[in-house]
Amino acid sequence: MNTAGALGNSYVMPAGLIDSIAMTFASSLVKMRRFADWYQLMHPEEKKKIAALAALEYVKPGSIIGIGTGSTVNHFIDLLAEKMPGEIEAAVSSSEASTERMQQQGIRVIELNDAGRLSIYVDGADESNHQLHLIKGGGGALTREKIIAAASDQFICIADESKLVDTLGKFPLPVEVIPMARNLVWQALKGLGGNPVWREEYVTDNGNIILDIHGLRIENALELEDQINQITGVVSVGLFARRPANVLILGGDGGVQKIEG
Ligand code: 5RP
Repeated sequence: MNTAGALGNSYVMPAGLIDSIAMTFASSLVKMRRFADWYQLMHPEEKKKIAALAALEYVKPGSIIGIGTGSTVNHFIDLLAEKMPGEIEAAVSSSEASTERMQQQGIRVIELNDAGRLSIYVDGADESNHQLHLIKGGGGALTREKIIAAASDQFICIADESKLVDTLGKFPLPVEVIPMARNLVWQALKGLGGNPVWREEYVTDNGNIILDIHGLRIENALELEDQINQITGVVSVGLFARRPANVLILGGDGGVQKIEG
């Protein structure tokens, strides 16, 4: 049956054309796959995993360490359990999700208040610039992440190479806000030049909400962090410039790259 032509106001694509588009698409996928194999391009998860593996060298046996949140950190938790079983005394966790994963892996989790100062904090990032100022909080755990980073001597940030940028801001900047202050804070953030968007249906582990600021180009991360922290109703902002990472470990096709701050 010929399905080509106009039927009323709707257009029905000829069956042959659909087949041909599907075949071209499938053949492009095969070519892309061959290209990736030929150049030995790594899957993004592999890049995160090699960064996580490289972070193990900073873990001292018998220590209490801080552990963050996210897909890269999940690799770190799994590798820590696999390669250094029972070697750390305990971990302080930045989220309920990471706590659950660590406990499943047999890693003891304790409260920061019972831990004192931590030797290292291992966490991912949504973006890093070359000064190791970070945007974090894509997973919503920014406040606890800031607290643990502040309590740690060294912040080891692990990520795939795509997270390194010249200028922060392409990734929407998360701000944790007390729920009743949502509109008040939204107005104030709007005044800073970006476009704040409420992360609806999302509640942080602390019972608060998140506003993500889109469309920022962050030239001065220190200043912006201070400005946002001054807004009444803000719990914390996912800019880590006052307390940047000390080491950034990036996984990429060429292996692992370390940048020290
Ligand atoms: C969670 C974070 C994460 O570190 C950040 O979102 C990166 O996550 P991923 O490793 O999944 O890319 O800040 O609040």
